[in-house]
Amino acid sequence: MRAVTLPSFGGPEALTLADVPDAVAGPGEVVVDVTATAVNRADLLQRQGFYNPPPGASPYPGLECSGTISALGEGVAGWSVGDQVCALLSGGGYAEKVAVPVGQLLPVPHGLSLVEAAALPEVACTVWSNVFSLADLHPGERLLVHGGTSGIGTFAVQLAARHGADVTVTVGSAEKAARALELGASRAVLYKEEDFVAAGPFDVILDNMGAKYLERNVDALATNGRLVVIGMQGGVKGELNLATLLGKRAAVHATSLRARPAEEKAAIVAGVLAAVWPAIEAGEIRPVIDRVLPLAEVAEAHRVLEASGHVGKVVLEVT
Ligand SMILES: NC(=O)c1ccc[n+]([C@@H]2O[C@H](COP(=O)([O-])OP(=O)(O)OC[C@H]3O[C@@H](n4cnc5c(N)ncnc54)[C@H](OP(=O)(O)O)[C@@H]3O)[C@@H](O)[C@H]2O)c1
Repeated sequence: MRAVTLPSFGGPEALTLADVPDAVAGPGEVVVDVTATAVNRADLLQRQGFYNPPPGASPYPGLECSGTISALGEGVAGWSVGDQVCALLSGGGYAEKVAVPVGQLLPVPHGLSLVEAAALPEVACTVWSNVFSLADLHPGERLLVHGGTSGIGTFAVQLAARHGADVTVTVGSAEKAARALELGASRAVLYKEEDFVAAGPFDVILDNMGAKYLERNVDALATNGRLVVIGMQGGVKGELNLATLLGKRAAVHATSLRARPAEEKAAIVAGVLAAVWPAIEAGEIRPVIDRVLPLAEVAEAHRVLEASGHVGKVVLEVT
């Protein structure tokens, strides 16, 4: 099979399409012939050598895919060769075939193409597990989504607005602000010009910036607020004012999806299937896709994400 390999770490040009041995299904796994995959911010870090795959994961990048099951491993029940699926991966999506634990498979939602479905697993699992499962966002609560037009942001805005939350986003441009409002946000803060703390307080904050926003995020929390840090685009070490946190009886969480054991991923995927898939199938939430590029243009796809001009997901069509 062909896969995107990393003979050395570096810029987008380090991504090298090569012939590699076919993926094989282990016990409890299936092989998916990949139709499409999508680029995640973490893939840029892996390419640069800052985010190695967890033990046992494929060495190739790619945290999600869609495609067709072509082989079943030992002990697999409930799935058949020929089923069209999308999947949350620990790696290996940038390839013609990938082995996937059955707990990480999702059916392609009715009404969506295979290419569209490739844009869903990572954002659906991340947003549902953090904003809903962990932070327990309630209807009527105020949610702040930093990077509101990122892949993650576009999904968080839609899911939270549909849930009846009042959603504010931070964005880098007026064009992005308009897109976030279209998706269901009630307010967009242009973070280069305004301070988001003034737009608060917020019951829940979904944060991609880490250290750079830690202090202001805590300032922006409401009493009983929950800050969930999922990204470190603004650095890893910040100062936490415990007195402020204590006074608000607030919580700070930080989570990573990729490193979780397979059982935890399976529980998240089951939750997404039950709680999120029906809204997608009803057309209430759509994957937001900035562009679809062929796998051969994977370097260009990484450049697009790095330049941050995109809104939503950048999808790679594999076959
Ligand atoms: N922990 C986990 O399990 C997990 C899983 C998935 C993703 N993530 C994280 O979630 C984040 C989004 O991922 P993605 O793949 O959707 O990435 P992405 O589409 O590349 O989005 C990154 C976003 O960051 C925004 N941004 C840059 N500087 C900002 C600032 N100072 N304030 C607010 N926003 C800023 C950019 O938009 P502007 O033009 O508006 O600046 C861009 O929309 C990443 O940090 C990623 O690592 C974490």
